[in-house]
Amino acid sequence: MSAAYDAEAARQRAIPWPAAGGALDLRALARLGTLAPSSHNTQPWLFRIGDEMIQVAPDLTRRCPVVDPDDAHLFKSLGCAAETIVQAAAAAGHATAMRIEPGGSITLSFRAAEGLDGTLAAAIPQRQCTRRCFDGRPIAPGQRKALAAAGTGEGVRVALVEDAAVRGAIGDLVAAGNRAQLGDPAFRAELFAWVRCTAGEAIATGDGLSSFAAGQPALPRWLVRLLLPVVLTASAQVARDSEHLATTPMLAAFVAVSDDIPAWIEIGRCYQRLALRATLAGIRHAHINQPIEVRDLRPHLHAALGLGPGEQALLLLRLGYGAAAPFSLRRPLDAMLRPV
Ligand SMILES: Cc1cc2nc3c(=O)[nH]c(=O)nc-3n(C[C@H](O)[C@H](O)[C@H](O)COP(=O)(O)O)c2cc1C
Repeated sequence: MSAAYDAEAARQRAIPWPAAGGALDLRALARLGTLAPSSHNTQPWLFRIGDEMIQVAPDLTRRCPVVDPDDAHLFKSLGCAAETIVQAAAAAGHATAMRIEPGGSITLSFRAAEGLDGTLAAAIPQRQCTRRCFDGRPIAPGQRKALAAAGTGEGVRVALVEDAAVRGAIGDLVAAGNRAQLGDPAFRAELFAWVRCTAGEAIATGDGLSSFAAGQPALPRWLVRLLLPVVLTASAQVARDSEHLATTPMLAAFVAVSDDIPAWIEIGRCYQRLALRATLAGIRHAHINQPIEVRDLRPHLHAALGLGPGEQALLLLRLGYGAAAPFSLRRPLDAMLRPV
C-alpha cells in the first residue's frame, strides 16, 4: 500500500459533477472521460473542447503495435471514453449526438433534453478492472437481463456465459494465449514498458499498469527487470489466470458483425455501459483477451461460443463479486487537450 498513491487516485476521481439544468461543464465531462478503461492504461485519446462539443481523437503515439497491431483495442478504448462522456452528459440533462470522423475521431455534440436516464453515470468514478480472484458466488439471476441490455449496441451483442464446460474451454484458450504471448520477447518488452513498478513511477507517469492495481508487490524497476525471467513467465500467468477463472461465475464476450473502426468504437461503448451497470450492481470485471489478441485462437473461441456465420468475438471479460482493488491512475486532462 502507498498513502501517496491512494491519495492521488482519490484526488483524480473527485471531479465536480456536471450539474443538471445549467450550462454543461465540458472540462468536467472530459475529465470524467479520462476515467474510462483503456488497453494497458495507455489512455490513447486527445480531447478538443469546442462550443457545446467535445471531440475524442485517437492519440497514435500511444499505440501498442505488438499486442494491438490493427489498433482495435485503441479504438475500443476511445469508444469507452466517448460513452463515459455520453453517460455523464445524460446525468447533467444533455443528450449527445455522436459522429465518427474519417480516421476514427469521435465528435460529441450536446443539447439540453428532458427525461434522460443518467443512472449509469454515478458509477464512473467507482468502475475499475479488478485483476483479482472473485468470491465464486454466481451472478444474481435478475442481473443477467440488465447486463445484456447494457452491453448491446448497433451490430454488437454480448454473449454471457455461465455454462461450466464453455467456461472451461475458454479457460484453455486463455492458457494457450498466455503461452503464445509470454513466449514472444516483443510482447514481453511492450508489456514491461507499460508496467509501473512503484507508486512513484505510477504517480509520475499517470498511466500504465501499476503494480498496486494488479496486486503485485512494489519493487524498484531495476529489480523487477532482473526478476522478469522468473516472475513474468507463461506458467506463472497460466496459474494466475486459472485461479482467477476458477472463482469466476460468468464470462462476457462482445460479439460484432464487422471488424473495423466503427465496430471497435461501438464495442467500447457497449463494454463501458456494461461495466458501469455491473459496477452499480456490485459486480466486478476483468479482461481475458488472450484468445482474441492471439489471432490463431480466434476460430477456437468462436467455436466455443457457438457464434453464427460472420460473427466475431472481439472483447472478453470475466464477471463476478469480490473486493475492490486500488484504482489505476490517469494523466491530467491538460496533457490530453488540443486546440479545436
Ligand atoms: C480495449 C481494452 C482491452 C483491454 N485488455 C486487457 C487485457 O487483455 N488484460 C487486462 O488485464 N486488462 C485489459 N484491459 C483493462 C485495462 O488494463 C484497464 O482498463 C486499465 O489498466 C485502466 O484500469 P481501470 O480500468 O481499472 O481504470 C483492457 C481495457 C480495454 C479498454
